[in-house]
Amino acid sequence: MRVIITENYDKLSEKAAQIISSQVTLKPDSILGLATGSTPIGTYKYLIEGYQKNLLDFSSVTTFNLDEYCTLSNSHPQSFSYFMFTNLFDHINIKKGNVHIPSGISEDVNKECTEYDRAIENMGGIDLQLLGVGHNGHIGFNEPDDEFIAPTHVVDLTQKTIDANSRFFDSPDDVPKQAVTMGMKSIMFAKKILFIAIGEEKAEIVSKMINGKITPKVPASILQLHPDITVVLDKDSASKL
Ligand code: GLP
Repeated sequence: MRVIITENYDKLSEKAAQIISSQVTLKPDSILGLATGSTPIGTYKYLIEGYQKNLLDFSSVTTFNLDEYCTLSNSHPQSFSYFMFTNLFDHINIKKGNVHIPSGISEDVNKECTEYDRAIENMGGIDLQLLGVGHNGHIGFNEPDDEFIAPTHVVDLTQKTIDANSRFFDSPDDVPKQAVTMGMKSIMFAKKILFIAIGEEKAEIVSKMINGKITPKVPASILQLHPDITVVLDKDSASKL
């Protein structure tokens, strides 16, 4: 595990975007695993800037997002689909047909999950997976549990996650109670992982993720087993290492 500690959020975003840019430059048909949440927004801004300066070409890139809320359509302003288009895809030359985000409103959600994993496998797996982390250690929406769950699946969100994500909704009651998330298999089979975290409130979980016991109670701790992971932190999130 490589750990890079940056001065602040802007430097973290720049560094994370450099790593993704290198991936896309070296392998223009890269399969990228992408994340939502507030942390990657700065990274996406730098990627857009790279594209606008003609330094980056996303025309052959394929993406798979980690997760989506159940019950929200992809045009719902709080859906992760909407987030990805407004914060990245609408501003770069990615082909919309190469964008994959699990549907939260699929009529047959189990079929949707199986097909999502199959689509990732058919592409040869993810080349570079970007990950943030929830305060309780969730990656994607793999919540603390008694076991690590391998396939893409439907998850009941914990109250902690609902509370944390209520900042994006008008009221906590509006936060969906379930989500579809990529499981640990696709994440751990990614050839490279880029993990980012910011702020003092993530310091405890970052320390557990890097130095703690590997346990499904701290889902991100499984990343200690990944052979090629780069962790980019700001000074605050690294303060308990
Ligand atoms: C969300 C996403 C995660 C993300 C996490 C942290 O719930 N499912 O992929 O890493 O929350 O979000 P933030 O970056 O806003 O702290």
